Amino acid sequence: MSRRRRVFEGKAKVLYEGPEPGTLIQHFKDDTTALNNQKQATIEGKGVLNNRISEFIFSRLNEIGVPTHFIRAINMREQLIREVEIIPCEVVVRNVAAGSLSTRLGIEEGTLLPRSIIEFYYKSDELSHPMVSEEHITAFGWSTPQEIDDMMALGLRINDFLTGLFLGIGIRLVDFKIEFGRLYEGDMVRVILADEISPDSCRLWDIRTNDKLDKDRFRRDMGGLIEAYQEVARRLGILFENEPKRRGPTLVK
Ligand code: TMP
Repeated sequence: MSRRRRVFEGKAKVLYEGPEPGTLIQHFKDDTTALNNQKQATIEGKGVLNNRISEFIFSRLNEIGVPTHFIRAINMREQLIREVEIIPCEVVVRNVAAGSLSTRLGIEEGTLLPRSIIEFYYKSDELSHPMVSEEHITAFGWSTPQEIDDMMALGLRINDFLTGLFLGIGIRLVDFKIEFGRLYEGDMVRVILADEISPDSCRLWDIRTNDKLDKDRFRRDMGGLIEAYQEVARRLGILFENEPKRRGPTLVK
């Protein structure tokens, strides 16, 4: 493993060269950060849970025709992915007011939004990921108008799919952050979903109790992060070796 070439190391993941050209291995670490790196910790088992949850979600998205970088699972912490050129714009989709939207606009957390809202953030750690408009994105050449259209359309499809998936297991999808990449195929280039979708990148609240089942437990020093991520994985029906066999998500009535 250590002989593999490391292509990129982020806060929570490492990318290694893949077995074939155009592929990479995405490795999920136990490290976590918040408040633009001011808060850091290593939480044992988080990487395994995020890998399994993200792999499950990306597989389902591939099945419904949402193009993603996910190829196949490798092991508990790693997945084989397509190499893409990451578009430097994070896409946030919101259904319920929370986090920075509540702070910025003074809307009480938990308020249902009149419709799903899409926001863009410029992917720059030095600038603490500022929110940007489509005007900024196109003027500075981070992405084209066509790519923005594709990211918005895919973001809304992903939101509809995930909202239903989580609702079925008693979880409200409050908001989430996704990233897209350019996949070059001969003369063609298309926008596909990249990165991860996990409780690190979503707000997930229990429908009945409003308990937080996501990274806000770390951001807000609430504790119980692993237990919350395990609960999401358990409800999604993701198997672990020492658990009884189950098939797919368990419907919460
Ligand atoms: P926010 O309310 O802090 O702007 O976050 C919106 C959503 O985006 C929330 O689900 C958490 C996710 N997110 C990330 O995944 N990474 C980040 O760096 C930030 C700021 C938010």
